[in-house]
Amino acid sequence: MSSSKINSSTMFFFIILMLNFGCKEVVENDKKTENKEMEDPVSIVESNYGTTANGEKVKQFTLQNQGGIQVSIITYGGRITSLKTADKEGTYKNIVLGFENLEQYEKSNPYFGALVGRYGNRISKGKFNLNGTEYILAKNNGENNLHGGIKGFDKVVWKVEGTTISDSEGSLKLSYLSKDMEEGFPGNLTTFVTYTLKKDNSLDVLYEATTDKTTVINLTQHSYFNLSGDFSQSIVDHKVEINADAFVKVDSRLIPTGELASVESTPFDFRKTRLISDGINAENEQIELGGGYDHCWVLNHPEKGYRSVAKAYHSGSGRYMEVLTDKPGMQFYTGNFLNGTLPAPNGGVYSKRSGFCFETQFFPDSPNQPNFPSATLKPEDTYTTKTTFKFSAE
Ligand code: BGC
Repeated sequence: MSSSKINSSTMFFFIILMLNFGCKEVVENDKKTENKEMEDPVSIVESNYGTTANGEKVKQFTLQNQGGIQVSIITYGGRITSLKTADKEGTYKNIVLGFENLEQYEKSNPYFGALVGRYGNRISKGKFNLNGTEYILAKNNGENNLHGGIKGFDKVVWKVEGTTISDSEGSLKLSYLSKDMEEGFPGNLTTFVTYTLKKDNSLDVLYEATTDKTTVINLTQHSYFNLSGDFSQSIVDHKVEINADAFVKVDSRLIPTGELASVESTPFDFRKTRLISDGINAENEQIELGGGYDHCWVLNHPEKGYRSVAKAYHSGSGRYMEVLTDKPGMQFYTGNFLNGTLPAPNGGVYSKRSGFCFETQFFPDSPNQPNFPSATLKPEDTYTTKTTFKFSAE
């Protein structure tokens, strides 16, 4: 009798326990649902990335939206080190070329993922004249200045201004003060760059700058994309569309000749979507000079300001990217100088054409080209420009 009593009270105890567990689970599930509803549209995680050779601490910020797009940015060069987007099956992969660690970013310089400044692309013979004064710049590309000089914005540690999260987006704001005559450029230039990941799967890059002396400025983002997510593959199988009737012709130094040439009946005509491989090896003087595509397209409708200017699509993965900007030009560079010497994180190497860049900007060498849109910034003005990379899969 006593044993059956124990059994029934044990049973009772278990029933209570199970009911309890059941209730708890329901409560927890409710909490989860509740939390999910309240979750931020974008999460931001900060971590230590490393220390530069000269002892500066570098941070990494990883922004992720609820859809699953994830972008990592380091304060060294304000670089995008990874950008994960979904393919048509919903598989997320990194689609931007990068290195495994800070040491490699400091050592080699194809400008992977970098913020480029003070002047994106080449300034002929590393000099220009502004209001009667000749400025001599650092030369780091033969006799020319490329992407700001020996120590451009891609090689400095940016200050973190802060992160913000609103109803539809999350942002990281960075800043850098480029001192008067740094790399030869006049004026103390205060620069802010804000990366914003949005609910709608787009990444905005907002650039703002002011100067205390008249100067020139041309900031851009130098991510190399490979929408396949497989960096051992060439990007020539991507389809590209660029809304531009003309491109900036270059000479053998890749310096603009001053001519804005029509794309009509040339390998530079991307007004209708076409494969990169269609024209990249064409017998064409400009293609030969660039070793492929390494030119600035004269984007249509600059009067509209911020507008859709380009698209890229990779049919294998179904990944699709759209670019919007208010800038007059876009350098389409097909990674022609990558030569299989730099290590990819998966153990492979980055071969020629394993990534392409869409660098929205003023035209190269504008400070020496009176007929190009002006890249001059005066102390009374603010340089503000926005570029968006928007991702989808189909
Ligand atoms: C330029 C290339 C240059 C590359 C450096 C591009 O923006 O157009 O000519 O070699 O940057 O990685």
